[in-house]
Amino acid sequence: MSGVTFAGSGVLSRLLLRASRHWRLLLFFFLVGLGSACLGLVSCVSSPGALNEGPHIPDAHYVGNKGCADCHGAIVQVAKANKHSRLIMDRTAPIGSSSCEGCHGPGSKHIESGGGKGKFILNPSQDGSICLNCHQQVNSEFHMREHHAVLEGRMNCVSCHDPHGPDLHNGSRGFGLARVNSTCAQCHREQTKLTVFDHEAMREGCTVCHAPHGSVNSKMLLQRDNNLCLKCHAQVQTSPGEIFIGATRHTSLLAKGSCWSAGCHTAVHGSNIDSHLRY
Ligand code: HEC
Ligand code: HEC
Ligand code: HEC
Ligand code: HEC
Ligand code: HEC
Ligand code: HEC
Ligand code: HEC
Repeated sequence: MSGVTFAGSGVLSRLLLRASRHWRLLLFFFLVGLGSACLGLVSCVSSPGALNEGPHIPDAHYVGNKGCADCHGAIVQVAKANKHSRLIMDRTAPIGSSSCEGCHGPGSKHIESGGGKGKFILNPSQDGSICLNCHQQVNSEFHMREHHAVLEGRMNCVSCHDPHGPDLHNGSRGFGLARVNSTCAQCHREQTKLTVFDHEAMREGCTVCHAPHGSVNSKMLLQRDNNLCLKCHAQVQTSPGEIFIGATRHTSLLAKGSCWSAGCHTAVHGSNIDSHLRY
C-alpha cells in the first residue's frame, strides 16, 4: 500500500519538470534544504505534521474518486472545494483524484460488492481515530484535562466539522467567525442566546476565549487568568499604583480574583441586566 502524500509535494515535482535545466538544479538544492529542514516535504506543506498511512481495508486497493462518482456523484462534486481534495492516496494518480479514500480507505472491495452501508468501507464518524491518525496535534489537544468528549465516543469530529463541504466548519450558513459560533450554538444555547447587553467579544467567535478541542484550563479557556480579557481591554496605569481598565478604577478590584469571578463580570457571554456584564 502506498503512503499518504499531499498535493503540495506533487505541485513541486511538477514545477521541477517544467523548469529549465538550470532552474532544475537550483530547485533541487532548494528542495534538499527544505526537505532536511523539515524532515520530509510532506510534513512541510501540510500543517497536521507528519502524515501517516491512510486507513487500511484488508485485500482492497485504491480506485480513485472516479470510482466513487458513479454512485456518490453529489459528494464527489461538493468535495472538490474541501481542503482534503488535495490528499493523494495513490502516488501515481493526479492531484485530487484519490482523496475520498484518504478517510474511507481503499474502495475496490466496496465497489465490487455493489456498495452499501458497512460494506468494506470505513466511516470516520464511527471511528475518529481515522482523522486523528493524520491530525496528531489535534489528538494531543483532546488528551488535555478539559476537553470535549470525542475520544470517549460521546461526540465526534462531525459534530463540529463538515468533512465534505467547502467550509470545514459545521452548522454554518454565514461567513467568517460567525460560522464557528453557530457550530457551538447547536449545543450551547445558554451562551449563544441574545442578550440586552451583548459582549462584543462574542462577534470574534467563541474561540477568542475557548480552545474548541481541549485545554489545560477549566472551561477550556485559552488563559486561566485576566490575560484572557486584557488582550482586548488595555490595563492602564495612571499614577503609581492606580490601575484603570476602560473608564473604571480597578486598583483594589484586581486583587479579588479574575475578571469573571470575584462577582464582577460574571456574565461574560452577555447580560440582560447590566452593561458591565453581571448577572
Ligand atoms: C456501485 C455503487 C457504489 C460505488 C461505486 C461506491 N459506493 Fe459507497 N455506497 C453505495 C451504497 C448503495 C451505499 C449505501 C447508501 C449510502 O450510504 O449512500 C454506500 C455507502 C457508502 C458509505 C457509507 C458507509 C457506512 O457504513 O456508513 C461510504 C463512506 C461510501 N459509500 C464511500 C464510498 C467511496 C469512498 C467510494 C469510492 C471509492 C464508493 N463509496 C463507491 C454504493 C456505492
Ligand atoms: C476528511 C475525511 C473525508 C473525506 C476526504 C471524504 N469523506 Fe466521506 N465521510 C466522512 C465522514 C466523517 C462521514 C460521516 C458524515 C456524517 O456522519 O455526517 C462521511 C460520510 C460519507 C458517506 C456516507 C453518506 C453520508 O453523507 O453520510 C459517503 C457516501 C461518503 N462519505 C463518500 C465520500 C466520497 C465519495 C468522498 C470523496 C469525494 C469522501 N467521502 C471524502 C469523511 C470524509
Ligand atoms: C490522510 C490524512 C488526513 C485525514 C484522514 C484527515 N485529514 Fe484533515 N487535513 C489533512 C490535510 C493534509 C489538511 C490540509 C492542511 C492544510 O491545508 O494546511 C487537512 C485539513 C483539515 C482541516 C482544516 C484545517 C485548516 O487549517 O483549515 C480540518 C478542520 C480537518 N482537516 C479535519 C479533519 C477531520 C474532521 C477528519 C476526519 C473526518 C480529517 N481531517 C481527516 C489530512 C487529513
Ligand atoms: C466542539 C467542536 C469541535 C470538535 C468536536 C472538533 N473540532 Fe476541530 N476545530 C473546531 C474549531 C472551532 C476549530 C477552529 C479553531 C480556530 O479557529 O481557532 C477547529 C479546528 C480544527 C483543525 C484545524 C487546526 C487547528 O487545530 O486549529 C483541525 C485539523 C481539526 N479541527 C480537526 C478535528 C478533528 C480530527 C476532530 C475529531 C477528532 C475535531 N477537530 C473535533 C471545533 C471542533
Ligand atoms: C455536539 C454538541 C456540542 C457542540 C457542537 C459543542 N459542544 Fe461544547 N460541550 C458539549 C458537551 C456535552 C459538554 C460537556 C458539558 C458539561 O459537562 O456540562 C461541552 C463542554 C463545553 C465547555 C466546558 C463547559 C464546562 O462547564 O466545563 C465549553 C467551554 C464548551 N463546551 C465550548 C464549546 C465551543 C466553543 C464549541 C464550538 C466550537 C462547542 N462547545 C461545541 C457539547 C457540544
Ligand atoms: C470573552 C471571552 C469569552 C467568549 C468570547 C466566550 N466565552 Fe465561554 N466562557 C468564558 C469564561 C471566562 C467562562 C468561565 C465562566 C465562569 O467560570 O464563571 C466561560 C464559560 C463557558 C461555558 C461553561 C458554562 C458557563 O457559562 O460558565 C460554556 C459552555 C461556554 N463558555 C461556551 C461558550 C460559547 C459556546 C461561546 C461562543 C458562542 C463562548 N463561550 C464565548 C469566556 C468566553
Ligand atoms: C476579542 C476581544 C475581547 C475580549 C477577549 C474580551 N472583550 Fe470585553 N469587550 C470587547 C469589546 C470590543 C467591548 C465593547 C467596547 C468596549 O466597551 O470596550 C467589550 C466590552 C466589555 C465590557 C463592557 C464595558 C462597558 O463599560 O460597557 C465588559 C465589562 C467586558 N468587555 C469584560 C470582559 C471580560 C471580563 C473579558 C474576559 C473574560 C473580556 N471582556 C474579554 C472585546 C473583548
